[in-house]
Amino acid sequence: MKLLRSWYIFKMGKSVYIYTYGCQMNVHDSEKMRGLLVQDGFEVARRPEEADLIVFNTCAIREKAEQKFYSQLGRTKFIKRRRSGVKIAVSGCVAQECGRGIFKRAPFVDFVLGPQNIPHIAKMVSGSPGSVYVDDAYDITTEELFPDRDSSLKAWVSIMYGCNNFCSYCIVPYTRGREVSRPSGSIVSEVSALKEKGYREVTLLGQNVNSYRSDTDFTGLLRRIDATGIPRIRFVTSHPRDLSDDLIAAMADLPRVCEHLHLPLQSGADRILGLMNRGYSYREYARRVELLRKTIPGIAITTDIIVGFPGETDKEHDSTVRSLQEMEFDGMFAFKYSPRKGTKASTMDGQVPDEVKSERLTELLLMQEDITRAINRRLEGTLQEVLVEGLAEADAGLMTGRTRSNKIVNFESSPEVVGSLAMIRIERTMTHSLWGSKADSE
Ligand code: SAH
Ligand code: SF4
Ligand code: F3S
Repeated sequence: MKLLRSWYIFKMGKSVYIYTYGCQMNVHDSEKMRGLLVQDGFEVARRPEEADLIVFNTCAIREKAEQKFYSQLGRTKFIKRRRSGVKIAVSGCVAQECGRGIFKRAPFVDFVLGPQNIPHIAKMVSGSPGSVYVDDAYDITTEELFPDRDSSLKAWVSIMYGCNNFCSYCIVPYTRGREVSRPSGSIVSEVSALKEKGYREVTLLGQNVNSYRSDTDFTGLLRRIDATGIPRIRFVTSHPRDLSDDLIAAMADLPRVCEHLHLPLQSGADRILGLMNRGYSYREYARRVELLRKTIPGIAITTDIIVGFPGETDKEHDSTVRSLQEMEFDGMFAFKYSPRKGTKASTMDGQVPDEVKSERLTELLLMQEDITRAINRRLEGTLQEVLVEGLAEADAGLMTGRTRSNKIVNFESSPEVVGSLAMIRIERTMTHSLWGSKADSE
């Protein structure tokens, strides 16, 4: 038995398993790390128990995200005890935030790697344990990385790194460093190469994409990417303050840019927006939304909200409730404010008790469900272009994909339509998905 096990390990060579937490940036960073490790001779393990290297690509945005990582890390200690030679690396935002401190909390970790140091992963894991790569002076924009992508249809493409906004609640500027943009030429050639490989959609990534600036601005970049002919273009995340008229006009103009915008509002109360350092009032935000809807027919707008920011009164919460009713967002992510060490808001007076945050959160979620359902119902009977991605999770007999407005559509068809842009007539709608049938088979 013992012999068999060591033969198995020998045969396996070097293999890696990556846990990914957090935002799309982290999902894509994991693809980049996997790409670099595969180039270096690693295989991808299907389960952590089979891997020689286990990477935790972590998120620090809220305490819960950090806790989730630490509890999984605790369980992983036993894999290391059972099999000699297993190495553990911690990357992502917790790695950047805690640096060497990770070793203190979890002495069985071998390597710590911040998000700006991803290109160093292969060198790091072949070196001696105990190394920490969190130098934020390193310029990642000059690196050509070759991500090992999860999908062969939809690709994440980084266009900028870091954030300069310092919203008072947010840890990101501390973990991802200052804003730096990739040169437009290298982004455009990455998108062209993806198109040649058969990709149908790109999502441009950055904490604040509309403040992209290198040899051109974000609107200029969008125009150049549209000209590559990639069928669908999306981007996240946009900051309401930097959403120029010019960008709205370009979104309306450019045929391949999809009719969806994620535009975090955070709060409907001006005093709270000020304390958050968001740089806009609710009225200014509402005017942007009005112009978007007038200029881009059928655009879906989604948002993020934080409840229970320090000092948020019942009345201020009511302003957020009202703003959601007025804005009629297609979808909303809402979060309980979570104090992050080192941020301005974490030391503000008037921290809100957890029960109040929970109540406010539930109220918003329930209300938004009704709004989303009502908006989706308006789509019944319409024809929607759907990029077909594969079998539906909810019902294995159905195919699934997304509309240009980013809504999930399930419909009856067969697997050979995967990768195509199908015209689907919407018949039934729910909060999180739409159901329909292929128009050309009617
Ligand atoms: N750069 C993007 C994404 C930031 S993180 C942006 O500016 O929108 C995604 C969301 O997490 C934010 O929009 C915010 O709503 C939420 N968030 C950030 N910090 C938080 C905190 N400390 N507590 C609760 N939610 C937070
Ligand atoms: Fe955080 Fe604000 Fe930057 Fe978004 S814009 S990453 S919320 S500091
Ligand atoms: Fe989390 Fe870092 Fe993204 S804190 S949300 S992984 S930028």
